[in-house]
Amino acid sequence: DDLERLADEIRDAETVVAFTGAGISAPSGVPTFRGDDGVWERFDEGQFAYGRLQRDPAGFWADRVDLQRELFDGEFEPNAAHEALAAMGRDGDLEAILTQNTDGLHGEAAEAVRDGETDDGHAGEPTVLELHGNSQRVRCTDCGKRRNGEPIFERAAEGELPPTCDCGGVFKPDVVLFGEQLPGAVIQRARSLARESDVFLAIGSSLVVEPAASLPRLAASTGATVGIVNLGSTPRDDIAAVVSRADVTDALPRLRALVAE
Ligand code: OAD
Repeated sequence: DDLERLADEIRDAETVVAFTGAGISAPSGVPTFRGDDGVWERFDEGQFAYGRLQRDPAGFWADRVDLQRELFDGEFEPNAAHEALAAMGRDGDLEAILTQNTDGLHGEAAEAVRDGETDDGHAGEPTVLELHGNSQRVRCTDCGKRRNGEPIFERAAEGELPPTCDCGGVFKPDVVLFGEQLPGAVIQRARSLARESDVFLAIGSSLVVEPAASLPRLAASTGATVGIVNLGSTPRDDIAAVVSRADVTDALPRLRALVAE
């Protein structure tokens, strides 16, 4: 079937790159952005624009506290799909994970796999590139210092609007806001990984925002086999050699097992 074909391609490939979106974290309980229950049905993207942080930092932070609660209410754990990718990375079957997610779950899964298997001879670990930053951190807009976000979000929730750094600067969540560019070095790295890849797997993303929309095409144009694992259809399904509509927690452990066979 489709996943068997994909597994064959992965076994023959030198460089396999995974690209993930909110759908991979949905089974962990993190809401997705689009669709009926999507975050953007309940919030307006404009509330979280960089321009608003500059114009109205108190209002921005008041709304951001609500969004943070909505996105990360509770303790989230990596699921079987994050774990399958982490294990493929450790086994040398996956070069890098490029993610749009800011939940940090790929990093946690990679750590768990590494910590659990220190002496079985596998030294590998996939590179995790967080294209949109990390929601568990904040960064000062003046001095640039990064801090653990939790106490800062708490201060904001208790009425410090906006929360500020020791230097007096306003904090921002350490994520790419609307109206902000992705850091140049990050986007370059992502593009070169897409170009280098022999297999490019797009997982749990609607592939409608940049660079999600263009990376699969870039990979395909330089010869990669593109595989898509996503419940809903995407505007890149037409360039994919394999499209699986399976849930990520079914498809990825199965794919990993097929590759390891
Ligand atoms: P979306 O919410 O746009 O798309 C998530 C996709 O995951 C949908 O197409 C679903 O069909 C699919 N999906 C959901 N659950 C799944 C499951 N269990 N198994 C397989 N597929 C599943 O999320 P993204 O594509 O990640 O940006 O959105 C991209 C960016 O738009 C986000 O990073 C965010 C947002 O605006 C910023 O905040 C900068």
